[in-house]
Amino acid sequence: MSLSSYFAQAETLDSANPLAVARLLFDLPNDQRYFLGNSLGPLTHAAREAVSQAVDSEWKTGLVRTWHDGDWFDLATETGNRIAHIIGAPSDSVIAGDSTSIALFKVLSAAAQKNATTTRNVLLCDINNFPTDRYVARSVADLFHLKYEECAVSEMATRFNENIAVVTASMIDFRSAEIHDVASITATAHAAGALTVWDLAHAAGIIPCDVERHHVDFAVGCGYKYMNGGPGAPAFMYVAPHLVEEVEQPIPGWFGHDAPFAFEYTYRPAQGILRFASGTTNILSMKALHGALEVFEQFPISAIRAGSIALGDFFIAGFDEHLSASGFSLGSPRNSADRGGHIALLHDRAEALTAELIGDGFIVDFRPPNVIRIALSPLFLHFNDIAALIGRLHGAL
Ligand SMILES: Cc1ncc(COP(=O)(O)O)c(C=O)c1O
Repeated sequence: MSLSSYFAQAETLDSANPLAVARLLFDLPNDQRYFLGNSLGPLTHAAREAVSQAVDSEWKTGLVRTWHDGDWFDLATETGNRIAHIIGAPSDSVIAGDSTSIALFKVLSAAAQKNATTTRNVLLCDINNFPTDRYVARSVADLFHLKYEECAVSEMATRFNENIAVVTASMIDFRSAEIHDVASITATAHAAGALTVWDLAHAAGIIPCDVERHHVDFAVGCGYKYMNGGPGAPAFMYVAPHLVEEVEQPIPGWFGHDAPFAFEYTYRPAQGILRFASGTTNILSMKALHGALEVFEQFPISAIRAGSIALGDFFIAGFDEHLSASGFSLGSPRNSADRGGHIALLHDRAEALTAELIGDGFIVDFRPPNVIRIALSPLFLHFNDIAALIGRLHGAL
């Protein structure tokens, strides 16, 4: 197919695309095409509105009274409930807050404390996990006197035995976008007596995670990626309801106390997921995330996943026709059922090409040694954005 037919096909697909209107919910610069929803999701009108209201009305006028008269005190769990809806978790099983690194530290510690014994003394981590996950997991292993081991997710099933206390992995690989089989790894881990901690950072907001259906024990993820919560947005923690009352987290602050304003001498954990809170909710950034999540009330995650697959398949069709003979290769699964929301495009000149693309308004990123990452968020990208990117990459050769 010629490039002009590819562009024409994009127009046809856009005119029939039920998600095309979602772009109106975002405030995007006109001169840029944004392929980094997996890194920092763009601004929504709803997030700006929520922050403005919090600043101009609640903070300015309500001042400290807003803790009691407004929604500030419940905002972390209300935001958690919006996230629960997106990741397939029951109500009141998710809390927003902290960064993903800190959230991971809390849930890994809770899992280790619950499940480790003198013989069940190994923490097993995805060797290709995001660096922060590996650093934090190693630290938790040290603190709980566990052995720290790593292997590829594909090898995990063969590693499970009576020594593994906790296993942690990402649902979607941050480089390749490969989807790991959460259901089967979790089931195999459970059969061996291990608890699972999943990082959903590259999954939440772009693909159904079905944490309840897959019997996930603990999960964390980022608010600033596909959930569009803004720079440094709060992360989230999920703890399976049957476990949450049985575990302790390592930063038992007053916001996770059963009665924070009673100022009791001794810590008593709150009921349910609230016990995973530690300090005061970051209201302004929580407001931005809470507002941004309104988009998902209008567009369900199943439709978003379908839209993301369609954009990815369209990209790959363009790649096959116009890029594959020119030094580019695919670093992501070709089969959409195995591929998350982004595509890793490999090229020897990836770093220089990334800079050139950004200069021309195609916002992508580079991951060493040779990856151009391209996230295909169907809420604000259209097929014509993909066609333009393929055309630009073709022209660069
Ligand atoms: C898979 C994954 N986990 C964790 C993080 C780190 O999150 P945070 O900066 O919120 O600690 C990232 C950041 O990009 C990530 O991609």
